[in-house]
Amino acid sequence: MCGIVGYVGKQDGVPFLLEGLQRLEYRGYDSAGVAAVKNGTLRVHKAEGRVRGMADTLPKRVAGPLGIAHTRWATHGPPSDVNSHPHVDTEGRVAVVHNGIIENAAVLRAALEADGVVFASDTDTEVVAHLVARADGEELEDRVRAALRQVEGAYGIAVCDATVPDRIVVARNGSPVVLGVGNGEMFVASDIAALVRHTQQVVFLEDGELATVTADGFRTFTLDAQTTNKTATEVDVTDDDYSRGGHAHYLRKEIGDQPEAVRGTLRGRLDHRFATSRLGGLEINARELRAIRRVKILGCGSAYYSGIAGAHLIETVARLPADAEPASEFRYRSPVIDPETLYVAVSQSGETADTLGAVQEVQRKGGRVLGIVNVVGSSIARATDSGIYLHAGPEVSVASTKAYTCTLTAFALLALHLGRVRDLGPGDGERLIAGLEALPAQIEEVLETEEHIAAVAGRIADATSAFFIGRVAGFPVALEGAQKLKEISYVHAEAYPASELKHGPLALITPDLPTIAVVPDDQMLEKNRSALQQVAARGGRLVVVGHSDPGDGVADDVLLVPRSEPELDPILLGIPLQLLAYHAAVALGRDVDQPRNLAKSVTVE
Ligand code: G6P
Repeated sequence: MCGIVGYVGKQDGVPFLLEGLQRLEYRGYDSAGVAAVKNGTLRVHKAEGRVRGMADTLPKRVAGPLGIAHTRWATHGPPSDVNSHPHVDTEGRVAVVHNGIIENAAVLRAALEADGVVFASDTDTEVVAHLVARADGEELEDRVRAALRQVEGAYGIAVCDATVPDRIVVARNGSPVVLGVGNGEMFVASDIAALVRHTQQVVFLEDGELATVTADGFRTFTLDAQTTNKTATEVDVTDDDYSRGGHAHYLRKEIGDQPEAVRGTLRGRLDHRFATSRLGGLEINARELRAIRRVKILGCGSAYYSGIAGAHLIETVARLPADAEPASEFRYRSPVIDPETLYVAVSQSGETADTLGAVQEVQRKGGRVLGIVNVVGSSIARATDSGIYLHAGPEVSVASTKAYTCTLTAFALLALHLGRVRDLGPGDGERLIAGLEALPAQIEEVLETEEHIAAVAGRIADATSAFFIGRVAGFPVALEGAQKLKEISYVHAEAYPASELKHGPLALITPDLPTIAVVPDDQMLEKNRSALQQVAARGGRLVVVGHSDPGDGVADDVLLVPRSEPELDPILLGIPLQLLAYHAAVALGRDVDQPRNLAKSVTVE
């Protein structure tokens, strides 16, 4: 969603701002803009549409050694040139860019209008520009503090003032802000992707924290003007991690990253001696682990689907009751929090507002939350009581692939750990370890079948709708397969437990509606075969994903994956479905990496 970039230094910052905005494009946005200060004059340029379009029409005079920039995802007011950020006060002196939602914007706006302020846009953000401009206070940081004390809601914000041309003031409350420390220059962003080309030295602000940023450094403090002493940390992410690596799309690159990404998740975590996993961030001792009676997994989108598969894994391996629920629903239904339940929050970005809200709801009621998160230092990683990082590397494409697969791998590690402090024997522990170690090479094997998968995708891409079916361990795989297809190809797709077909959806089966059936060689194989027969008997086209051809000529196409340990099957079965969705989307000419209406990281409700 929205992105913030800022620069203060000695050279013209606008090239950095534009490049930073391009790095944030993957998050999803509808408009973009830049403000720059030079010789005490503030100039703004902004436009609906792509960063490139805005940059192409950027007047030369919008330049200077200090600037802020933004990609907007509309919340208050439709996408338009005037609603794009930065927003300025009436005199065009103060400029503001903002991520998040100001909940009392209507009240603040009415009060300002009653005082004679004429608004240029429909946005909540413009309120802040006027409040800062009208606030009392000697320093810009005092005026920003005074303005933000009136504001309720979530924000990541950057402010500059033409009369104080050496500084940017930034603030965070629920929406990330990170500072990048350069040599005689400083960077500001909402996501490290925008600044790792220039520095690896970063400072993550906490909620309720502000910073004054000048070319020579920064000072952090709270809304009550208490200084917080922060030092920079080094991130191990470089600009290369954000490149497409020669692929046409980030999504394809990230599908191909999966062998290495899974290695990253497993690295240093397999303990052959005790046939278990070692999870340094778990911070729950064996006695406490044994006291856990249930596991409840929370996440949104693909993170939620990975949670359904994870719950099945935990229940099977550790024999603990486990289930998953969309974090977006959980947080609002006044859930009963049980002290003997381990809550697990799953999030690639670590910034999804609904998942963070669910974590806070559990903690407010005294529950314990473990995070499974990819982005190091993200809000959910910091809010949770303990955690497992995926170490999958940055995921740029909106649709999740490698983070999803690595989350399943992390669930297998967690299930193994929970199992081994309970009744799972060392033989089974060793068997699962061997299965996990084999995964990267097996993913490579699936990737080698891409050409065949692409041909199958070409045959289903013209369908207006598709069914995905599976049973027990195969069902969450079907859910995520359908999710991938609808997200990036816009083909309507629905997942059903294969057992439920005859209770309704069978009525829709015709030769025009393909069914993608997840059919591993497991205990459900025979029952799955009869579901396949029911589809075939109605002339439905069948694509089977599994370990072998189900026979009888029932499948029109078969996508094979290598056999794994049965508990780990869902990890490999998901890979062909990612490639299937990818090639269907390419065949249909879709914007694969930035599907319409979707954002990578949904930081507002
Ligand atoms: C958005 C993305 C999905 C993602 C979900 C959860 O909806 O479009 O691809 O699965 O958010 O994101 P998270 O970062 O919390 O895993």
